[in-house]
Amino acid sequence: MEIVESIEAVRAIRWQNPSLTWGLVPTMGALHEGHLSLVRQALIDNDRVGVSIFVNPIQFNDRADLERYPRQIEQDTRMLAELGVDVIWVPSEQTMYPARFQTYVDVELMTRSLEGVARPGHMRGVTTVVSKLLHVFEPTRAYFGQKDAQQAAVIQQMVRDLAFRSEIMVCPTWREADGLAMSSRNVLLDPVERQAATVLYRALMTAQRAWLNGERNAQYLKTLMTEIIQAEPLARIDYISVADPADLIEIERQVEQGLISMAVYIGKIRLIDNITVGV
Ligand code: PAJ
Repeated sequence: MEIVESIEAVRAIRWQNPSLTWGLVPTMGALHEGHLSLVRQALIDNDRVGVSIFVNPIQFNDRADLERYPRQIEQDTRMLAELGVDVIWVPSEQTMYPARFQTYVDVELMTRSLEGVARPGHMRGVTTVVSKLLHVFEPTRAYFGQKDAQQAAVIQQMVRDLAFRSEIMVCPTWREADGLAMSSRNVLLDPVERQAATVLYRALMTAQRAWLNGERNAQYLKTLMTEIIQAEPLARIDYISVADPADLIEIERQVEQGLISMAVYIGKIRLIDNITVGV
């Protein structure tokens, strides 16, 4: 396994043998089983696999969130070596954003809802960094998690719009035994908050059960979830949404196909989760 920093080094390895297929898993490190599930899928699908680790400053709209974001590069490297990853790319901030950097990629409509409202500039930061990662690495396939449903949908749209060569693969959300979606931010929860954090999944499961039992009213599904979250004293709702999975626009009436998603603060830590129904 090689660990590289520069754009030139990445390209040299990538194009040593142009007939090999490459998978890329972009991450911000602090790796957990959710990330590793993407890596495992990439190892199945491709001859070679690269993982990028870069805590992307321009996608953090909240400075405190960037500063406390967990960093554990040595442990990450060990985990990836054990899985049999071929390359870890750890670009510096200089490499990604050299002096006078001023070019951004902005996907319009689909970033104006959900996380786009709650975290101004976040999605533009994501699409810009992912553009550069894909452009430099040119993987055959790039892997993203359904955990960040809007991110995955926006990246698919961007890749279609700008005719990137890489195929975007979206993998299922990996969860703890009690349903909490794995996230690098989970380590920031204290034991009481960690217990309270299960409320997101409980709310999503209640909505799913109601939908499976024939409930189609979007407002009612949101009310159900709101009541469950509000019953947890440590939880504060940022948003609860039932949206059209194709364009991420909020559904006002009947839900035949839906992306049910939420962002909830548990103490200071903001968690997101989602499920789909009818898809
Ligand atoms: P990060 O949060 O490190 O996540 C990297 C990838 O792992 C993302 O595609 C994310 O959706 C996926 N992932 C995270 N938790 C998961 C889980 N529990 N199950 C399945 N997949 C999971 O998302 C980012 O980094 C950044 O925005 C990035 C795309 C790297 C751009 O900076």
